[in-house]
Amino acid sequence: MSAPNSIALPLPFEWGCATSAFQIEGAASLGGKLPSIWDDFCTQPGNIKDGSNGLTACDHVHRMRDDVALIADLGFRHYRFSIAWSRVINERGQPNAAGFDFYKRLLDELARKGITPNATLFHWDLPSHLKGGWLNRDTAYRFADYARCVARELGDALPRVATLNEPWCSAFLGYDLGVFAPGHQNREESLAAAHHLMLAHGLAMQAWRGMRDDTALGIVLNPELCDAASDNPADRQAARMAELERNDVFLNPLFGRDWPAEMQTQIGSLATVRQEGDLAICAQPLDFIGLNYYTRSVARAPRSAHEKSRGYAFVPPSGDALPLTDIGWEICPEGLGRMVRNLTGQWPLPPIWITENGAADNTEVGATGECQDTLRLGYLQSHLAELSQLVQSGFDIRGYYVWSLMDNFEWAHGYTQRFGVVHVDYATQQRTPKASAHWLSDLMRRQSIDA
Ligand code: NOJ
Repeated sequence: MSAPNSIALPLPFEWGCATSAFQIEGAASLGGKLPSIWDDFCTQPGNIKDGSNGLTACDHVHRMRDDVALIADLGFRHYRFSIAWSRVINERGQPNAAGFDFYKRLLDELARKGITPNATLFHWDLPSHLKGGWLNRDTAYRFADYARCVARELGDALPRVATLNEPWCSAFLGYDLGVFAPGHQNREESLAAAHHLMLAHGLAMQAWRGMRDDTALGIVLNPELCDAASDNPADRQAARMAELERNDVFLNPLFGRDWPAEMQTQIGSLATVRQEGDLAICAQPLDFIGLNYYTRSVARAPRSAHEKSRGYAFVPPSGDALPLTDIGWEICPEGLGRMVRNLTGQWPLPPIWITENGAADNTEVGATGECQDTLRLGYLQSHLAELSQLVQSGFDIRGYYVWSLMDNFEWAHGYTQRFGVVHVDYATQQRTPKASAHWLSDLMRRQSIDA
């Protein structure tokens, strides 16, 4: 066992960087690309902090070759990205050749550079033409059709595929809090959306496996680690409710378990969306689970009617208990360990990949041309030390992907928050690796030699 702050991961360990389609691609209507609910959401004033959108983003579609070269130069051997459903499937549900062509070229380029792809089928950018979005059961079946199509078109080059990224965000930020597309505020709807997302996951797993059996298939979740604001029983119950919503609603169906009674009550008048046989569809065997970890949260007892409908309210981080990143999230490396221990104690998880971890550090490129993102550097060091401890104590964690390869469109925050290890100047699209990228390069080089 090594010193608490050292980073030593046994080989083989996958080091990678992650992005998602809407956040980097741009080329929003090129080659028959259709709008997604995020394109629509960005057009409504007030939804995005800086009034921006994903029309150009990092212009990755036009700069893909250079971006892949950058990934390779930095020493990443694994790259996690998402496929934009609305780029590859048209309104009639048929494949769009021009859209698939982009991903074929991306996969060719990655192969040429010896980088293994790790693809996600859905990272929040639902095609706008799917009526009713995740409130419509039919969307789950359309997702399975899309998965089948990707398996046919790209399956040969995809060793690892996740169905959904962080379905909690699509369901609860999108349909309850209304801060993500489609911007609804309805508790019952958010639970119906969560159910349809998990049904979509199960149907897509079945569809893909019906096409081929040589792909590792899984899902990426962002489980909650929630502390109570005080020892008061009402606050402790609130923290429990936050974890039920974030964890049990998604993990239970994956393992054939029903929702906790509290969540079955909260879906109220929409309870009928949960049909007989659905649980069996959701519970497809998983080859892996991806966990995204950024921070812990703190919950208190609900006060307003809306808070009561959920059973909890979050206490906004003040910076008094723990230091904050630039987006205002607490830096809590030991939370990664607590989260993994909590989850493995409650559910029979398959092998784990940390599919996202990173920090908003908005440091700009200085006069010398360097970007000294010391906050991010410290964040990555402490979280990787925690990860090392977990792996050394026997948790089956096989890879780590930093979020993100480069600064990009940070959803409701627009371009105001920078998560990249590579800086992007949005006016010129110039990429500048930050100090954290150089540090990671060095670490990955050493870790792939002496484990
Ligand atoms: C998780 C999401 O998957 C990603 O899209 C987002 O940018 C990061 N969290 C940071 O908020």
